[in-house]
Amino acid sequence: MTTTEKPKAGLEDVVATSSAICYLDGERGVLAYCGYDIHDLARSATFEEVCYLLWHRRLPTRAELGDLQSELAAARPLPEAIVRLMRSLPPVDGMDALRTVTSALAHYDPEAADTSAAAQYRKAVRLTAQIGSVVATWGRLQAGGGPIAPNPAMGHAASFLYMLTGARPDAPSIRAFDLALTLHADHELNASTFAGRVAAATLTDIYSATVAAIGALKGPLHGGANAEVMRMLLALGQDASADRVEQTIRAKLGRKEKIPGFGHRVYRTEDPRATHLRRMSHELGKRAGTTAWFDMSERIEAIVKGEKKLNPNVDFYSASTYYTLGIPIDLYTPIFAVSRISGWTAHILEQYANNRLIRPRADYTGPAYPQRVVPLDER
Ligand SMILES: CC(C)(COP(=O)(O)OP(=O)(O)OC[C@H]1O[C@@H](n2cnc3c(N)ncnc32)[C@H](O)[C@@H]1OP(=O)(O)O)[C@@H](O)C(=O)NCCC(=O)NCCS
Repeated sequence: MTTTEKPKAGLEDVVATSSAICYLDGERGVLAYCGYDIHDLARSATFEEVCYLLWHRRLPTRAELGDLQSELAAARPLPEAIVRLMRSLPPVDGMDALRTVTSALAHYDPEAADTSAAAQYRKAVRLTAQIGSVVATWGRLQAGGGPIAPNPAMGHAASFLYMLTGARPDAPSIRAFDLALTLHADHELNASTFAGRVAAATLTDIYSATVAAIGALKGPLHGGANAEVMRMLLALGQDASADRVEQTIRAKLGRKEKIPGFGHRVYRTEDPRATHLRRMSHELGKRAGTTAWFDMSERIEAIVKGEKKLNPNVDFYSASTYYTLGIPIDLYTPIFAVSRISGWTAHILEQYANNRLIRPRADYTGPAYPQRVVPLDER
Protein backbone atom coordinates (compact mmCIF):
# COMPACT_ATOMS: atom_id res chain seq x y z
CA MET A 1 0.00 0.00 0.00
CA THR A 2 1.54 3.30 -0.97
CA THR A 3 -0.49 5.53 1.38
CA THR A 4 0.17 5.90 5.12
CA GLU A 5 -3.55 5.36 5.77
CA LYS A 6 -4.24 2.46 8.19
CA PRO A 7 -7.14 0.16 7.26
CA LYS A 8 -10.14 -0.01 9.57
CA ALA A 9 -10.15 -3.34 11.42
CA GLY A 10 -12.89 -5.51 9.95
CA LEU A 11 -13.64 -2.76 7.38
CA GLU A 12 -15.99 -1.21 9.95
CA ASP A 13 -18.12 1.55 8.41
CA VAL A 14 -16.32 1.19 5.08
CA VAL A 15 -18.72 1.64 2.16
CA ALA A 16 -17.51 -1.02 -0.28
CA THR A 17 -20.13 -0.92 -3.04
CA SER A 18 -23.35 0.70 -4.24
CA SER A 19 -26.46 -1.43 -4.06
CA ALA A 20 -30.19 -0.93 -4.58
CA ILE A 21 -31.24 -3.95 -2.51
CA CYS A 22 -31.03 -3.29 1.22
CA TYR A 23 -31.17 -0.13 3.32
CA LEU A 24 -29.72 -0.32 6.81
CA ASP A 25 -29.60 2.47 9.40
CA GLY A 26 -27.85 1.13 12.46
CA GLU A 27 -28.39 4.28 14.53
CA ARG A 28 -32.17 4.25 14.10
CA GLY A 29 -32.54 0.46 13.85
CA VAL A 30 -34.02 0.56 10.35
CA LEU A 31 -33.84 -2.38 7.95
CA ALA A 32 -35.63 -2.13 4.61
CA TYR A 33 -35.57 -4.30 1.51
CA CYS A 34 -35.78 -2.07 -1.62
CA GLY A 35 -37.40 0.69 0.47
CA TYR A 36 -39.94 -1.55 2.26
CA ASP A 37 -39.56 -1.52 6.04
CA ILE A 38 -38.89 -4.95 7.52
CA HIS A 39 -41.72 -4.48 10.05
CA ASP A 40 -44.25 -3.97 7.22
CA LEU A 41 -42.87 -6.93 5.28
CA ALA A 42 -42.92 -9.09 8.42
CA ARG A 43 -46.60 -8.24 8.92
CA SER A 44 -47.85 -8.36 5.35
CA ALA A 45 -45.58 -10.27 2.95
CA THR A 46 -44.64 -13.89 2.42
CA PHE A 47 -41.09 -15.10 1.79
CA GLU A 48 -41.87 -15.62 -1.91
CA GLU A 49 -43.02 -11.99 -2.22
CA VAL A 50 -39.77 -10.94 -0.54
CA CYS A 51 -37.73 -13.05 -2.98
CA TYR A 52 -39.47 -11.36 -5.89
CA LEU A 53 -38.85 -7.96 -4.29
CA LEU A 54 -35.13 -8.61 -3.82
CA TRP A 55 -34.69 -9.91 -7.36
CA HIS A 56 -36.90 -7.33 -9.14
CA ARG A 57 -36.78 -4.34 -6.72
CA ARG A 58 -40.59 -4.24 -6.58
CA LEU A 59 -43.35 -6.34 -5.07
CA PRO A 60 -45.06 -8.79 -7.43
CA THR A 61 -48.59 -8.63 -8.74
CA ARG A 62 -50.73 -11.68 -7.92
CA ALA A 63 -49.99 -13.14 -11.37
CA GLU A 64 -46.23 -12.57 -11.01
CA LEU A 65 -46.26 -14.17 -7.58
CA GLY A 66 -48.16 -17.15 -8.96
CA ASP A 67 -45.54 -17.57 -11.69
CA LEU A 68 -42.70 -17.43 -9.17
CA GLN A 69 -44.44 -19.95 -6.90
CA SER A 70 -44.80 -22.31 -9.87
CA GLU A 71 -41.12 -21.87 -10.82
CA LEU A 72 -40.02 -22.59 -7.25
CA ALA A 73 -42.30 -25.63 -6.99
CA ALA A 74 -40.99 -27.00 -10.30
CA ALA A 75 -37.38 -26.65 -9.13
CA ARG A 76 -37.85 -28.15 -5.65
CA PRO A 77 -37.40 -31.86 -6.46
CA LEU A 78 -33.71 -32.77 -6.18
CA PRO A 79 -31.86 -34.83 -8.80
CA GLU A 80 -31.60 -38.44 -7.62
CA ALA A 81 -27.79 -38.20 -7.79
CA ILE A 82 -27.87 -35.34 -5.27
CA VAL A 83 -29.87 -37.43 -2.80
CA ARG A 84 -27.39 -40.28 -3.33
CA LEU A 85 -24.50 -37.89 -2.65
CA MET A 86 -26.17 -36.77 0.58
CA ARG A 87 -26.64 -40.38 1.63
CA SER A 88 -22.96 -41.09 0.95
CA LEU A 89 -21.59 -38.27 3.11
CA PRO A 90 -20.16 -39.12 6.52
CA PRO A 91 -22.05 -37.69 9.52
CA VAL A 92 -20.84 -34.11 9.05
CA ASP A 93 -22.08 -30.72 10.23
CA GLY A 94 -25.15 -29.46 8.35
CA MET A 95 -23.29 -26.46 6.93
CA ASP A 96 -20.48 -28.67 5.63
CA ALA A 97 -23.05 -30.87 3.92
CA LEU A 98 -24.84 -27.84 2.46
CA ARG A 99 -21.56 -26.43 1.11
CA THR A 100 -20.66 -29.72 -0.61
CA VAL A 101 -24.13 -30.39 -2.00
CA THR A 102 -24.65 -26.82 -3.27
CA SER A 103 -21.41 -27.16 -5.19
CA ALA A 104 -22.62 -30.47 -6.65
CA LEU A 105 -25.97 -28.95 -7.72
CA ALA A 106 -24.07 -27.05 -10.42
CA HIS A 107 -23.23 -30.33 -12.18
CA TYR A 108 -26.94 -31.09 -12.68
CA ASP A 109 -27.92 -27.63 -13.94
CA PRO A 110 -28.09 -27.67 -17.75
CA GLU A 111 -27.77 -23.87 -17.73
CA ALA A 112 -24.72 -23.81 -15.44
CA ALA A 113 -22.48 -22.26 -18.11
CA ASP A 114 -25.08 -19.84 -19.55
CA THR A 115 -24.12 -16.35 -18.38
CA SER A 116 -27.07 -14.48 -19.93
CA ALA A 117 -29.03 -12.36 -17.44
CA ALA A 118 -32.17 -14.45 -18.04
CA ALA A 119 -30.32 -17.71 -17.27
CA GLN A 120 -28.66 -16.23 -14.18
CA TYR A 121 -32.10 -15.24 -12.89
CA ARG A 122 -33.49 -18.73 -13.50
CA LYS A 123 -30.50 -20.15 -11.61
CA ALA A 124 -31.22 -17.79 -8.68
CA VAL A 125 -34.78 -19.14 -8.53
CA ARG A 126 -33.62 -22.76 -8.79
CA LEU A 127 -30.93 -22.30 -6.13
CA THR A 128 -33.49 -20.79 -3.78
CA ALA A 129 -35.88 -23.70 -4.35
CA GLN A 130 -33.20 -26.38 -4.12
CA ILE A 131 -31.27 -25.14 -1.09
CA GLY A 132 -34.54 -25.47 0.83
CA SER A 133 -34.92 -29.03 -0.43
CA VAL A 134 -31.29 -29.90 0.34
CA VAL A 135 -31.52 -28.69 3.95
CA ALA A 136 -34.89 -30.37 4.59
CA THR A 137 -33.70 -33.63 3.00
CA TRP A 138 -30.44 -33.52 4.95
CA GLY A 139 -32.40 -33.10 8.18
CA ARG A 140 -34.63 -35.98 7.18
CA LEU A 141 -31.71 -38.31 6.39
CA GLN A 142 -29.90 -37.38 9.60
CA ALA A 143 -33.01 -38.29 11.55
CA GLY A 144 -33.01 -41.73 9.88
CA GLY A 145 -35.99 -41.15 7.60
CA GLY A 146 -36.27 -41.35 3.84
CA PRO A 147 -36.49 -38.21 1.68
CA ILE A 148 -39.96 -36.72 1.28
CA ALA A 149 -40.93 -35.45 -2.17
CA PRO A 150 -42.05 -31.80 -2.14
CA ASN A 151 -45.75 -31.04 -2.43
CA PRO A 152 -46.11 -28.58 -5.35
CA ALA A 153 -49.24 -27.06 -3.82
CA MET A 154 -47.31 -25.80 -0.79
CA GLY A 155 -45.47 -22.51 -0.37
CA HIS A 156 -41.77 -22.40 0.44
CA ALA A 157 -42.11 -22.37 4.25
CA ALA A 158 -44.77 -25.10 4.33
CA SER A 159 -42.89 -27.22 1.81
CA PHE A 160 -39.69 -27.03 3.87
CA LEU A 161 -41.42 -28.14 7.08
CA TYR A 162 -43.28 -30.88 5.21
CA MET A 163 -40.09 -32.21 3.57
CA LEU A 164 -38.33 -32.12 6.94
CA THR A 165 -40.97 -33.86 9.01
CA GLY A 166 -43.20 -35.73 6.57
CA ALA A 167 -46.22 -34.19 8.31
CA ARG A 168 -48.43 -31.42 6.93
CA PRO A 169 -47.48 -28.39 9.08
CA ASP A 170 -50.19 -26.38 10.83
CA ALA A 171 -50.88 -22.73 10.02
CA PRO A 172 -49.04 -21.17 13.03
CA SER A 173 -45.89 -23.21 12.28
CA ILE A 174 -45.98 -22.19 8.63
CA ARG A 175 -46.50 -18.55 9.59
CA ALA A 176 -43.63 -18.63 12.11
CA PHE A 177 -41.23 -20.26 9.67
CA ASP A 178 -42.25 -17.99 6.81
CA LEU A 179 -41.62 -14.98 9.05
CA ALA A 180 -38.17 -16.31 9.98
CA LEU A 181 -37.38 -16.69 6.27
CA THR A 182 -38.56 -13.14 5.55
CA LEU A 183 -36.48 -11.69 8.39
CA HIS A 184 -33.26 -13.46 7.29
CA ALA A 185 -33.61 -12.82 3.54
CA ASP A 186 -31.14 -9.97 3.18
CA HIS A 187 -28.89 -7.76 5.26
CA GLU A 188 -26.82 -5.51 3.04
CA LEU A 189 -23.08 -6.26 2.99
CA ASN A 190 -22.98 -8.85 5.77
CA ALA A 191 -19.93 -11.12 5.64
CA SER A 192 -21.47 -13.92 3.56
CA THR A 193 -23.08 -11.58 1.01
CA PHE A 194 -19.81 -9.69 0.67
CA ALA A 195 -17.97 -12.99 0.17
CA GLY A 196 -20.50 -13.94 -2.53
CA ARG A 197 -20.11 -10.58 -4.27
CA VAL A 198 -16.31 -10.76 -4.18
CA ALA A 199 -16.46 -14.18 -5.82
CA ALA A 200 -19.09 -13.04 -8.36
CA ALA A 201 -16.94 -10.03 -9.27
CA THR A 202 -14.34 -12.39 -10.74
CA LEU A 203 -17.19 -13.48 -13.07
CA THR A 204 -17.15 -16.94 -11.61
CA ASP A 205 -20.45 -18.84 -11.79
CA ILE A 206 -23.38 -18.30 -9.43
CA TYR A 207 -22.88 -21.70 -7.73
CA SER A 208 -19.25 -20.91 -6.88
CA ALA A 209 -20.26 -17.49 -5.54
CA THR A 210 -22.99 -19.12 -3.43
CA VAL A 211 -20.55 -21.69 -2.05
CA ALA A 212 -18.24 -18.81 -1.01
CA ALA A 213 -21.18 -17.22 0.80
CA ILE A 214 -22.13 -20.48 2.53
CA GLY A 215 -18.55 -20.89 3.78
CA ALA A 216 -18.65 -17.41 5.32
CA LEU A 217 -22.09 -17.93 6.86
CA LYS A 218 -20.93 -21.02 8.72
CA GLY A 219 -18.69 -19.10 11.13
CA PRO A 220 -19.84 -18.56 14.75
CA LEU A 221 -19.44 -14.80 14.38
CA HIS A 222 -22.06 -14.89 11.59
CA GLY A 223 -24.81 -17.46 10.96
CA GLY A 224 -23.26 -20.09 13.19
CA ALA A 225 -24.35 -18.05 16.21
CA ASN A 226 -27.99 -19.31 16.20
CA ALA A 227 -26.93 -22.91 16.90
CA GLU A 228 -24.48 -21.67 19.54
CA VAL A 229 -27.35 -19.85 21.29
CA MET A 230 -29.39 -23.04 21.57
CA ARG A 231 -26.39 -25.04 22.78
CA MET A 232 -25.90 -22.41 25.49
CA LEU A 233 -29.58 -22.62 26.53
CA LEU A 234 -29.48 -26.43 26.58
CA ALA A 235 -26.25 -26.43 28.61
CA LEU A 236 -28.08 -24.32 31.19
CA GLY A 237 -31.01 -26.75 31.08
CA GLN A 238 -34.72 -26.09 30.73
CA ASP A 239 -35.22 -26.05 34.51
CA ALA A 240 -32.24 -23.81 35.31
CA SER A 241 -33.01 -21.40 38.14
CA ALA A 242 -32.81 -17.65 37.61
CA ASP A 243 -29.73 -17.66 39.88
CA ARG A 244 -27.95 -20.29 37.83
CA VAL A 245 -28.65 -18.40 34.59
CA GLU A 246 -27.43 -15.16 36.15
CA GLN A 247 -24.23 -16.72 37.56
CA THR A 248 -23.39 -18.57 34.33
CA ILE A 249 -23.85 -15.55 32.07
CA ARG A 250 -22.02 -13.17 34.42
CA ALA A 251 -19.14 -15.69 34.69
CA LYS A 252 -18.91 -15.92 30.90
CA LEU A 253 -18.84 -12.13 30.62
CA GLY A 254 -16.24 -12.00 33.40
CA ARG A 255 -14.05 -14.36 31.34
CA LYS A 256 -14.60 -12.02 28.36
CA GLU A 257 -16.44 -14.77 26.50
CA LYS A 258 -18.86 -13.63 23.85
CA ILE A 259 -22.49 -14.49 24.42
CA PRO A 260 -23.84 -15.83 21.12
CA GLY A 261 -26.77 -13.90 19.70
CA PHE A 262 -25.71 -10.51 21.06
CA GLY A 263 -23.99 -7.53 19.51
CA HIS A 264 -23.90 -6.31 15.96
CA ARG A 265 -21.45 -4.47 13.77
CA VAL A 266 -24.08 -2.06 12.42
CA TYR A 267 -27.01 -1.76 14.87
CA ARG A 268 -26.69 0.54 17.88
CA THR A 269 -30.34 -0.15 18.73
CA GLU A 270 -32.28 -3.37 18.94
CA ASP A 271 -31.95 -5.43 15.78
CA PRO A 272 -35.43 -4.92 14.24
CA ARG A 273 -35.51 -8.62 13.29
CA ALA A 274 -35.05 -9.64 16.93
CA THR A 275 -38.26 -7.80 17.86
CA HIS A 276 -40.32 -10.19 15.72
CA LEU A 277 -38.41 -13.30 16.69
CA ARG A 278 -38.77 -12.50 20.40
CA ARG A 279 -42.55 -12.29 19.92
CA MET A 280 -42.58 -15.45 17.82
CA SER A 281 -40.52 -17.38 20.37
CA HIS A 282 -42.97 -16.33 23.10
CA GLU A 283 -46.08 -17.18 21.05
CA LEU A 284 -44.77 -20.59 19.98
CA GLY A 285 -43.73 -21.38 23.55
CA LYS A 286 -47.23 -20.58 24.85
CA ARG A 287 -48.72 -22.75 22.13
CA ALA A 288 -46.35 -25.61 22.99
CA GLY A 289 -47.29 -25.37 26.67
CA THR A 290 -43.94 -24.11 28.01
CA THR A 291 -42.22 -20.77 27.71
CA ALA A 292 -39.13 -22.00 29.59
CA TRP A 293 -36.69 -21.31 26.72
CA PHE A 294 -38.24 -17.94 26.01
CA ASP A 295 -38.17 -16.99 29.70
CA MET A 296 -34.53 -18.01 29.99
CA SER A 297 -33.70 -16.05 26.83
CA GLU A 298 -35.38 -12.95 28.25
CA ARG A 299 -33.38 -13.34 31.46
CA ILE A 300 -30.13 -13.60 29.52
CA GLU A 301 -31.11 -10.57 27.46
CA ALA A 302 -31.63 -8.49 30.61
CA ILE A 303 -28.23 -9.52 32.02
CA VAL A 304 -26.27 -8.87 28.81
CA LYS A 305 -28.06 -5.56 28.27
CA GLY A 306 -27.40 -4.48 31.84
CA GLU A 307 -23.73 -5.59 31.90
CA LYS A 308 -22.58 -4.88 28.36
CA LYS A 309 -25.27 -2.63 26.84
CA LEU A 310 -25.52 -5.17 24.03
CA ASN A 311 -28.80 -5.98 22.27
CA PRO A 312 -29.89 -9.37 20.93
CA ASN A 313 -29.38 -9.86 17.21
CA VAL A 314 -31.34 -11.98 14.72
CA ASP A 315 -29.74 -15.19 16.00
CA PHE A 316 -30.78 -14.93 19.64
CA TYR A 317 -34.53 -15.53 19.58
CA SER A 318 -34.44 -17.53 16.35
CA ALA A 319 -32.79 -20.30 18.40
CA SER A 320 -35.73 -20.81 20.79
CA THR A 321 -38.17 -20.24 17.90
CA TYR A 322 -36.66 -23.09 15.85
CA TYR A 323 -36.30 -25.29 18.90
CA THR A 324 -39.97 -24.92 19.73
CA LEU A 325 -40.82 -25.72 16.11
CA GLY A 326 -39.00 -29.03 16.67
CA ILE A 327 -36.16 -28.28 14.24
CA PRO A 328 -32.83 -30.04 14.99
CA ILE A 329 -30.06 -27.65 16.11
CA ASP A 330 -27.71 -28.79 13.36
CA LEU A 331 -30.14 -27.25 10.84
CA TYR A 332 -30.34 -23.75 12.36
CA THR A 333 -27.47 -22.26 10.37
CA PRO A 334 -28.40 -24.14 7.16
CA ILE A 335 -31.90 -22.65 7.59
CA PHE A 336 -30.32 -19.19 7.63
CA ALA A 337 -28.99 -20.12 4.16
CA VAL A 338 -32.44 -21.38 3.06
CA SER A 339 -33.57 -17.78 3.45
CA ARG A 340 -30.39 -15.80 2.70
CA ILE A 341 -29.92 -17.50 -0.67
CA SER A 342 -32.56 -15.00 -1.89
CA GLY A 343 -30.41 -12.05 -0.79
CA TRP A 344 -27.14 -13.66 -1.89
CA THR A 345 -28.46 -14.27 -5.40
CA ALA A 346 -29.99 -10.77 -5.60
CA HIS A 347 -26.56 -9.33 -4.77
CA ILE A 348 -24.71 -11.70 -7.11
CA LEU A 349 -27.05 -10.74 -9.99
CA GLU A 350 -26.58 -7.06 -9.13
CA GLN A 351 -22.82 -7.57 -9.18
CA TYR A 352 -22.92 -9.33 -12.57
CA ALA A 353 -25.11 -6.56 -14.02
CA ASN A 354 -22.59 -3.82 -13.23
CA ASN A 355 -19.33 -5.56 -12.55
CA ARG A 356 -15.81 -4.53 -11.74
CA LEU A 357 -13.30 -6.89 -10.11
CA ILE A 358 -13.19 -6.38 -6.33
CA ARG A 359 -9.52 -6.16 -5.51
CA PRO A 360 -8.57 -3.96 -2.54
CA ARG A 361 -5.07 -3.41 -1.14
CA ALA A 362 -3.37 -4.48 2.09
CA ASP A 363 -1.35 -2.41 4.51
CA TYR A 364 1.95 -4.33 4.46
CA THR A 365 3.33 -5.05 7.95
CA GLY A 366 5.89 -7.79 7.15
CA PRO A 367 9.73 -7.77 7.15
CA ALA A 368 11.38 -4.73 5.54
CA TYR A 369 11.95 -4.86 1.82
CA PRO A 370 14.30 -6.06 0.37
CA GLN A 371 15.40 -9.21 2.17
CA ARG A 372 18.36 -11.16 0.74
CA VAL A 373 17.55 -14.81 -0.16
CA VAL A 374 20.27 -16.74 1.71
CA PRO A 375 21.08 -20.00 -0.15
CA LEU A 376 19.46 -23.04 1.50
CA ASP A 377 22.77 -24.56 2.74
CA GLU A 378 23.78 -21.31 4.44
CA ARG A 379 20.55 -20.82 6.46
C1 LIG B 1 -21.64 -9.67 15.83
C2 LIG B 1 -20.20 -9.38 16.25
C3 LIG B 1 -19.27 -10.32 15.48
C4 LIG B 1 -19.86 -7.95 15.88
O1 LIG B 1 -18.52 -7.82 16.08
P1 LIG B 1 -17.71 -6.43 16.12
O2 LIG B 1 -18.49 -5.32 15.54
O3 LIG B 1 -16.39 -6.74 15.51
O4 LIG B 1 -17.58 -6.14 17.65
P2 LIG B 1 -16.39 -6.64 18.57
O5 LIG B 1 -16.27 -8.12 18.50
O6 LIG B 1 -15.18 -5.82 18.25
O7 LIG B 1 -16.97 -6.25 19.99
C5 LIG B 1 -16.91 -4.94 20.54
C6 LIG B 1 -16.96 -5.08 22.09
O8 LIG B 1 -18.20 -5.66 22.48
C7 LIG B 1 -17.99 -6.93 23.10
N1 LIG B 1 -18.95 -7.87 22.53
C8 LIG B 1 -19.43 -7.89 21.27
N2 LIG B 1 -20.31 -8.88 21.13
C9 LIG B 1 -20.37 -9.49 22.33
C10 LIG B 1 -21.09 -10.58 22.81
N3 LIG B 1 -21.92 -11.25 22.01
N4 LIG B 1 -20.94 -10.95 24.09
C11 LIG B 1 -20.11 -10.28 24.91
N5 LIG B 1 -19.39 -9.23 24.50
C12 LIG B 1 -19.51 -8.85 23.24
C13 LIG B 1 -16.58 -7.36 22.66
O9 LIG B 1 -15.99 -8.26 23.58
C14 LIG B 1 -15.89 -6.03 22.63
O10 LIG B 1 -15.63 -5.62 23.95
P3 LIG B 1 -14.29 -4.84 24.33
O11 LIG B 1 -14.34 -3.56 23.55
O12 LIG B 1 -14.39 -4.69 25.80
O13 LIG B 1 -13.16 -5.74 23.87
C15 LIG B 1 -20.04 -9.59 17.75
O14 LIG B 1 -20.95 -8.78 18.46
C16 LIG B 1 -20.16 -11.04 18.17
O15 LIG B 1 -19.18 -11.79 18.10
N6 LIG B 1 -21.39 -11.48 18.61
C17 LIG B 1 -21.60 -12.85 18.99
C18 LIG B 1 -21.80 -13.71 17.76
C19 LIG B 1 -23.11 -13.42 17.07
O16 LIG B 1 -24.15 -13.36 17.71
N7 LIG B 1 -23.05 -13.27 15.76
C20 LIG B 1 -24.22 -13.06 14.94
C21 LIG B 1 -24.26 -11.68 14.37
S1 LIG B 1 -25.79 -11.37 13.52
